[in-house]
Amino acid sequence: MLLAQKHILNFNIRISHRRLSTTAHMANRRAPSSDVSKFHEVLTSSKRIMALCGAGLSAASGLGTFRGAGGMWRNHRATSLATPEAFEKDPGLVWLFYSYRRHKALQAKPNAGHYALTELSKKLPDFITLTQNVDGLSQRAEHPREQLKLLHGSVFDIKCFSCDRIELNNYDDPFHPLLAIESEEDDRLVPAENTVRATAAYMDPNVNTTTINPDDLPHCPKCKTGLLRPGVVWFGEALPEDTLGEIDEWIKQDKIDLILVIGTTATVWPAAGYVEEAKRKGARVAVINMDGLDGELGAASNLRNGDFLFQGDAAKILPEILKPVIGELKIAS
Ligand code: APR
Ligand code: ZN
Repeated sequence: MLLAQKHILNFNIRISHRRLSTTAHMANRRAPSSDVSKFHEVLTSSKRIMALCGAGLSAASGLGTFRGAGGMWRNHRATSLATPEAFEKDPGLVWLFYSYRRHKALQAKPNAGHYALTELSKKLPDFITLTQNVDGLSQRAEHPREQLKLLHGSVFDIKCFSCDRIELNNYDDPFHPLLAIESEEDDRLVPAENTVRATAAYMDPNVNTTTINPDDLPHCPKCKTGLLRPGVVWFGEALPEDTLGEIDEWIKQDKIDLILVIGTTATVWPAAGYVEEAKRKGARVAVINMDGLDGELGAASNLRNGDFLFQGDAAKILPEILKPVIGELKIAS
């Protein structure tokens, strides 16, 4: 039971985990360093490095994060739409949200942070990047595919809600004519303009939140009955088993020298657990994050003496702190 739960996307396991670790390590806790030259020494002497990335990596590309101001879409909390239950209740609404995210991701370009990680991967074949991002920007920055582990899938993969069919790398925009991105006045959403009414409508199973009839949404060409859905991992769903297996295999091989925790609040499990796992294998931690160690990140990563915190934009910081290995970053515009 516990083993199965370990692989399910959730906010819950952190609760007991946090209670255990915060108090236990409090006494040893020191302020992490932000000394770039000290970090360079650690980086150049590191052989096995892991990165754990989140939405902050793509912030400089113009894509919103989840727990900041960007965590809302049309009066809906982004996380409340990321569940199979939300899709079952109102597939049109959930599809409009993902259609919007596909559209925004396609409009965006990878930033210097993505390219810096690509370069580090090319220089260090034993470096792996675990990303919670589903926006395809690392792939478009030509991050070597076998060194990039997609924990939460991709908005450009299309799965069936009922059977096992999956189509990879579908970049159609819109994915379906019914899901084209409209202006703010979108009459497919009722009532879009009023938070209280929209929330009430969303909570009330008898009130539709979209005018889109599920029968008109695209269905699976294999089983014919299932609705197609974005190939991302929703809350309550299991992460891709093969990907988790590849990561476990990598972790098992040897000790880990360094983990880079980039643009993530590390609040969502099991992804957040990799920080502790890397630490158990000897890794120093370097956090690259706009909001520092506020809230959950501080508790989850529990930095010690010898660890690092670089506060600011990952797109600026990564090329700088990785420079001794990747050299000067050249990005074709
Ligand atoms: N550079 C670096 N960090 C940044 C930047 C930036 N330019 N902008 C924001 N950040 C940081 C914020 O300070 C915050 O700590 O990025 C982090 C974003 O955190 P979240 O919004 O919680 O995103 P993330 O950790 O990726 O969420 C994890 O939750 O909703 C689910 O499945 C979804 O993959 C997602 C998961
Ligand atoms: Zn199907």
